[in-house]
Amino acid sequence: MQGPVPRRGVQMKDLGLIENGGVAVAGEEILAVGKSEDVEGKVDLAEGCHVIDAKKAVVTPGLIDSHTHPVFSKTRETEYEMRIEGKTYAEIAREGGGIRASVRDMRETRTAKLIEQTAKRLDTMLSFGITTIEAKSGYGLSTEAEIKSLEIIQNLNETRVIDLIPTFMGAHEIPDEYRSNREEYISIIIEEMIPAVTKKKLAEFCDIFCEEEVFSVDESRRIMAAAKKAGMKLKFHADELAASGGSQLAAEMGAVSADHLVYISESGIKALAKSGTVAVLLPGTSFSLRSNYAPARKMIENGVTVALSTDCNPGSSFTESLPLMITLAALNYRMTAAESLSAVTVNAACAVDRGGKIGQLIEGLPADIVLWDMADYRELPYHYGVNLAKNVIKRGKIVVGAD
Ligand code: NIG
Ligand code: FE
Repeated sequence: MQGPVPRRGVQMKDLGLIENGGVAVAGEEILAVGKSEDVEGKVDLAEGCHVIDAKKAVVTPGLIDSHTHPVFSKTRETEYEMRIEGKTYAEIAREGGGIRASVRDMRETRTAKLIEQTAKRLDTMLSFGITTIEAKSGYGLSTEAEIKSLEIIQNLNETRVIDLIPTFMGAHEIPDEYRSNREEYISIIIEEMIPAVTKKKLAEFCDIFCEEEVFSVDESRRIMAAAKKAGMKLKFHADELAASGGSQLAAEMGAVSADHLVYISESGIKALAKSGTVAVLLPGTSFSLRSNYAPARKMIENGVTVALSTDCNPGSSFTESLPLMITLAALNYRMTAAESLSAVTVNAACAVDRGGKIGQLIEGLPADIVLWDMADYRELPYHYGVNLAKNVIKRGKIVVGAD
């Protein structure tokens, strides 16, 4: 994955593949990458140094999941069944289910239990080759519960192998107690939550669900302006259920990413291409909600930086498998294996404002590496529903698979 950062248009097809390659690691960092014989010539194997014969394995950078909502307790299979029987996601939300159901549950659940349940999800992600995730709050929706959620993310980042990049999402929904007074909830986000979160340095990003029945474009502009002023970088849930203009707003405000984009308009696509805002596409959400799929090809053709993510959450996409997203992207977005690999490594790094710092196998970068049980990288979308990650190396240590 050496070469351009981000990968746009036809560049997404360029993996910088090295046949018979080798990677040398010292401590937590990559020391050399290239043809095996060249790497061997460049480094002295220290005594006791560990050599892994990758044999016929494909070796890639650790995957980056740039959009997750992992902190929750109760799962929502009841709603899943309701959808199977014909209800829509929006109908369930209107009736008090959806995000608000997860909020009621998260507020009641003890921190220790939430940590334990979230940690299990993180370990599953790691087993699928994911070494870094972006993690959102947004099931608290009160100052106290949002802080609780972000502190859980902080705690897990310190104690678990996988890296977590924290995002504050107090504007995920209007909670039950403010349904008839949304203005007051918006004031609480702006005047209480954003200052409290930034004071405690608990979030790098601020995200919002900008959607007709959630936060309007004007409300989103106000909330996100406050977040930006407080020093947070911006992300948007945009144009997920309808074309509401969220992507244009994300571009206008210089957001790092705009996510979902199922109903993005032509002008939204042009705006993202121009601003350099990364489009984070979430095929698992379309799959799970049986909705339309984002116009990925059109975005790629127009030079938008495209990343892929799971959207792991208890409602619209309950999965920890980024490789499965690669299969869904192949069949529904018509993205090739190479394009998808770019979308979960180099471009996903850009979606979390770490372009060129993670997501590539390059000298000096953290040694986050996956060995896949396949002889050709194109097997990744094609051989689906199984876990092909054989070994996962995080900062130079083998954390999954036999040592
Ligand atoms: O990204 N769109 C908003 N938020 C989540 C769904 C959260 C939920 O249903 O709990 C999403 O799809
Ligand atoms: Fe989401």
